[in-house]
Amino acid sequence: MPPAVRRPFASTVLSLLVLALALAGAAFADNGGFAPVDARSPNAQGINDAYNWVSIFTGAIFVLVQGSLLWFIFRYRRGRRARTEDGAQVHGNTNLELAWTIAPVLILVAIGTFVFWKLPQIQDVPAADAAGGRTDVTVTGYRYYWNFEYPNGVIAVDKLRAPVGQTVKLEITAPDFDVIHSWWIPSLGGKFDAIPGVVNESWFRADRPGIYRGQCAEFCGTQHAAMLAEVEALPREEFDAWLEETAQAQEAGTSDLGAETYAGACAKCHGLAGEGDIGPALANNGLLQDREAVETVVRNGRNLMPPVGTDWEQRQMDALTAYLEEEFGGE
Ligand code: CUA
Repeated sequence: MPPAVRRPFASTVLSLLVLALALAGAAFADNGGFAPVDARSPNAQGINDAYNWVSIFTGAIFVLVQGSLLWFIFRYRRGRRARTEDGAQVHGNTNLELAWTIAPVLILVAIGTFVFWKLPQIQDVPAADAAGGRTDVTVTGYRYYWNFEYPNGVIAVDKLRAPVGQTVKLEITAPDFDVIHSWWIPSLGGKFDAIPGVVNESWFRADRPGIYRGQCAEFCGTQHAAMLAEVEALPREEFDAWLEETAQAQEAGTSDLGAETYAGACAKCHGLAGEGDIGPALANNGLLQDREAVETVVRNGRNLMPPVGTDWEQRQMDALTAYLEEEFGGE
């Protein structure tokens, strides 16, 4: 009989633990995407609170399960026992069975109670208050850009400007001919689908100026990954001034809405310099001098191109066709 080989068990477990800790350390350094981003709006804070509350239980369960696993591996290893020798046969343990039935029920009750308590803070759109007012913005998801419309008619693409400290109510939707997208600026609250023909309501109230980034969170086609969104929170007066100026400029046709629309709606397929990518190149294309023909294509789509501008207001269409002619129309 060969001599029993003593496996270096403890040292293996130890090195695995060290490796796991090192990986966890690297992952958690600078958050590593494990924890939610900083909440900059009350509803985002509510979501983070719920996340943290649930994490207490899941974290404890993780440590308990993995700890017992390691302990059992170590404590009940075969050692010098013969391979054929059975372990002790255990049948039933009333206290254990009661414990593992009651504990999960209590955990679910604790989680459920907390989440339902937090839900109004997350979900309910605050009413316009006398002091702060409220800005209501329509958010429309198209392949592959976001179109915003403010109460005074100002249109913006991909970048939503918002006043700090004031509630912004979002009416999130998509046009009938489009597909489902999903609006999500993590530091400003939860994720809401933009569904053709359906209006979902959400809101945020940014607590400090800054740029908050997001991404379309529903796979919507080839350029889904390019469907980014950005909220820039501005001090109240700055926002009001921007909204007023932009309204006048868009009215007068002197705004940069054409360039903005090009960057959001066209460039993701045709290239920012019109150099072509998924879609054909536009630069130096004499056809772009025919604004009516361009409008027909933008409204109806052609071949693989979706009808990106079917339901645009004429202002936005004119801004785009003027920009295209000027920028890429050639001589
Ligand atoms: Cu829009 Cu993904």
